[in-house]
Amino acid sequence: MSNHPPQNLTVATTGASGAIFLRNFLQIVDRDRRIETVNFIASDSALRVMAEELGLRGRSNLVGQILGSARRNSRGSPRKIRLQSNDDIGANVASGSYPADAMVVIPCSVGTLARIAHGDASHLIERAADVSLKEKRPLVLCVRETPLNKIHIRNMYRAADAGATVFPLIPAFYYRPASLDQMAREFACRVLAHLGLPQPPAFRWKG
Ligand SMILES: Cc1cc2nc3c(=O)[nH]c(=O)nc-3n(C[C@H](O)[C@H](O)[C@H](O)COP(=O)(O)O)c2cc1C
Repeated sequence: MSNHPPQNLTVATTGASGAIFLRNFLQIVDRDRRIETVNFIASDSALRVMAEELGLRGRSNLVGQILGSARRNSRGSPRKIRLQSNDDIGANVASGSYPADAMVVIPCSVGTLARIAHGDASHLIERAADVSLKEKRPLVLCVRETPLNKIHIRNMYRAADAGATVFPLIPAFYYRPASLDQMAREFACRVLAHLGLPQPPAFRWKG
């Protein structure tokens, strides 16, 4: 990992359950002034799941819909989170020459995991992940499925072996989260701390 905190993040979301984790992750990233640019990609299945779990309607103003009221209060730039089309394999993050610092897939479906693990780069999410691995940049996969079959487990091994961090969407409970949002926020803080972006308000175990 480079010795500076990531300033340019790629965030992808896929059709696994857990849209609340994406919402809290993007809200924190939007507020964090160390992060200057976020390229955000959503698969079609992610839209379907977000409609179920967050009540979102279509792709219109997608980032605003996901951020919800937090965007209105945000001190972050409204242009910081740029939506990229998953069909556009010519987008900036499709190339290793674009200076993306790190990529997070949250939540990551086992379908997307399988494509990343097998180098199937036919859509932007998988292509950007493929580029992260070939350029030896951090790639965090917040995989969510249960129970796991051997194919999922093998694919997690393959992705980890190629350099990805498998960061399962499994929250902690020892800080006694008071709400689902707090649980999702703390999880987002753990992912960001892993990338060199510790969040001061995050819970810290003192033993
Ligand atoms: C409500 C809902 C919840 C889903 N939850 C999961 C899940 O937790 N994990 C998963 O891997 N797939 C889940 N799926 C199935 C994926 O959306 C499906 O396999 C899809 O093809 C994944 O596409 P993507 O990887 O391109 O986003 C869910 C689908 C729906 C509609």
